[in-house]
Amino acid sequence: MASDEHRPEEHRPEDRRLDLSEPIRIDAGGWGLSWVADDRGALHQLGLGPDGCAAPLEVGAEWYPLAFPSLDGTDPFRPPALQITHADGTLSTRLVLRSVRRLHESGGEHVVAVTSDEIFDLRVEHHLRTHPASGVLEQWVEVVHGEAGPVTLLAHDSVAPLLMVPEDAEVVQFGGAGWADEWRWSTDRLVIGTTVLGSLGGVQPHLQRGPCLMLSPHGRFEPGASGAAQDHGEVIGLSVCWAGNVHMCLDVRPRAEPGADRELRLRAGASALGAPYRLDPGVTMVLPKVAWTWSTGGTDGVTEAFHRWSRARVMRDPDRTRRIVANNWEATFFDFDEQRVVGLIERAADLGAEVFLLDDGWFGTTRPRDDDTQGLGDWDVDVRKLPDGLSPLADAARRSGIRFGIWVEPEMVNPRSELHDAHPEWVLRDAREPRLHRHQLYLDPLQPEVREFEADVVDRALSAAPGTTYLKWDANRPITDAGSTALASDRQANVWFDHATATWDVMDRVARAHPEVELMLCASGGGRTDHGSLRFFHEVWTSDNTDPVTRVRMQWACSHFFPAAVMAAHVTRWGERPMSFACAVALSGRFGVDLDLDAVTADELAVLRRAVAVAHRTQDVIQRGVLHRYVSPVAGVDRSRAAWSLSLGERTVLFLYQLEEPSSPPPVIGLLGVDPASDYEVRVSDLDADADADAADQVRIVSGVELAEGVAWPLPSPLTARIVELSRVV
Ligand code: DGJ
Repeated sequence: MASDEHRPEEHRPEDRRLDLSEPIRIDAGGWGLSWVADDRGALHQLGLGPDGCAAPLEVGAEWYPLAFPSLDGTDPFRPPALQITHADGTLSTRLVLRSVRRLHESGGEHVVAVTSDEIFDLRVEHHLRTHPASGVLEQWVEVVHGEAGPVTLLAHDSVAPLLMVPEDAEVVQFGGAGWADEWRWSTDRLVIGTTVLGSLGGVQPHLQRGPCLMLSPHGRFEPGASGAAQDHGEVIGLSVCWAGNVHMCLDVRPRAEPGADRELRLRAGASALGAPYRLDPGVTMVLPKVAWTWSTGGTDGVTEAFHRWSRARVMRDPDRTRRIVANNWEATFFDFDEQRVVGLIERAADLGAEVFLLDDGWFGTTRPRDDDTQGLGDWDVDVRKLPDGLSPLADAARRSGIRFGIWVEPEMVNPRSELHDAHPEWVLRDAREPRLHRHQLYLDPLQPEVREFEADVVDRALSAAPGTTYLKWDANRPITDAGSTALASDRQANVWFDHATATWDVMDRVARAHPEVELMLCASGGGRTDHGSLRFFHEVWTSDNTDPVTRVRMQWACSHFFPAAVMAAHVTRWGERPMSFACAVALSGRFGVDLDLDAVTADELAVLRRAVAVAHRTQDVIQRGVLHRYVSPVAGVDRSRAAWSLSLGERTVLFLYQLEEPSSPPPVIGLLGVDPASDYEVRVSDLDADADADAADQVRIVSGVELAEGVAWPLPSPLTARIVELSRVV
């Protein structure tokens, strides 16, 4: 895996090695786990969960389940977390604890349990890095060996805890149809056998599945249930920090005694499906981090943990409020010239946007990028559209008082391009003719020249017009022809793992080289929405699907793991919903517009102006506030409404959405995050109001008690929304 977070780890001198007979206790903040080695040295899971760190050793270590089963014959009936074919062809790996290092670092500790094979020169390190302030544990595995030749990893998970769960335990997962269907919420009963929640395709894996899950270890996800719900009960939240194929495996086995809980082995990490990894002696394979938590406060507790951890350990510039972006993609697609873009920039600035992003179509010389069939890879400005280059656009932005940003897709090439003419050998392919997808091919990031080229694409795009300080990095096809000339014939399948680390190397380089540039990560939408990639970017393009009804549900789901600051949400024409509704939905993420501002009606413009005013007043609270949820659009019988709020200091912003015709009486929202002993200035924005901005906002003083007791549902019909801003009166 690419280098760690940008913040250096601080190891203090009391770092120490532990006695190997002592249990290894990990206090993850409100929960934890303990491992203990048996007489042979095999690691067992002594405890896991809220009391897991302190679990007493009551019987011999060998009576506890294995902490991380490798294929060693101990449990021949279930898939292992680690399976390695050794250089001599031996299929089993039997690991023994050799040492434990406990490294104190700022904000937590980093424990390394070093194991190695009983007879082979092969080391497997378990890394457990805590962040008690959030309750998120980062866990991963590193493998290195000194055998006589390469070994082959057939399974390589990062975590593999074992839990006892009742028959009605459930999992929330986010598997969808692919493009434009990210973050589809699904609550499913665990079934006996092995359920693999996986993704394939390599480059945009999270289009098919958010790399996250939530699990209720004590029963169903349902309000009032003995299991868990939004605000109560125990919930495990887990995120695989990986930009390649991911899997999360739920391996459930019943026990013979009637009514007994079932055994669940939860394995998660990079998927090895169809991708056996050949590892040379002396090379360390760093498997992806899995970040996980064990909430005792329902799914809200998972959210709180992941938001805190994301801000502390993942996000770039977490305290910097993201700016309002105006994008031209859905306004013009490939069809624009300088005059049109300058006009859009001026309109965007007049509206109050803070960044103008020029999307796809600005480049290509002999095969200009007039559609998606050609030009990709030729990163010189198309002088037919932009005779004086990008500078007049950046100048127009500067004159208008906003920033200028640019779109690139550095990893791809159209066969109809000068780049492909010059370097047909740069594409990823096997022995067959490579298949096109969106008329393009994937450049092989395992070739050093390709990585140089990709970093250079960004450098050139940013320097083409001085003052370019925003960049969208896109990637619009999966891997279909896995094969790299940079890999020997016996290890072609390594490409499934290595393409992700190689691409992170380039992204890391870009992030370090351009600290002042705000970076958005897009992969045909949210295809790379993972906590590993997010280290290099300020935000992600959550989905190409901006139909606000769908977006409410997507953003609800995604926000369980990612703060609103990183979820780009733009107002578009998708779904042809009322402008006021589209604006209200985009306002709950990192707000932006992707509209033909030359073609909006006067009424629509008035709505947009009101929305931008709300964004300016509220975006710090939305992006940095603590999230509270009230009404779910994805769970329960009536999914026609949604409500949530964000609180920062003395201020709260409440979002209320009526998506469809309701099938239940209107709810009353008891506001969280308000002080009952205080009064609040309450401003209700109806973006649709048929009046000027001031008259559309009603402001009054309401007591905190009244707010905590309940706000009546104000929305009479589908596709309506209210944004309620509250400030404590001091
Ligand atoms: C896919 C992205 O998701 C869109 O927003 C847009 O940038 C297009 N690519 C451009 O080709």
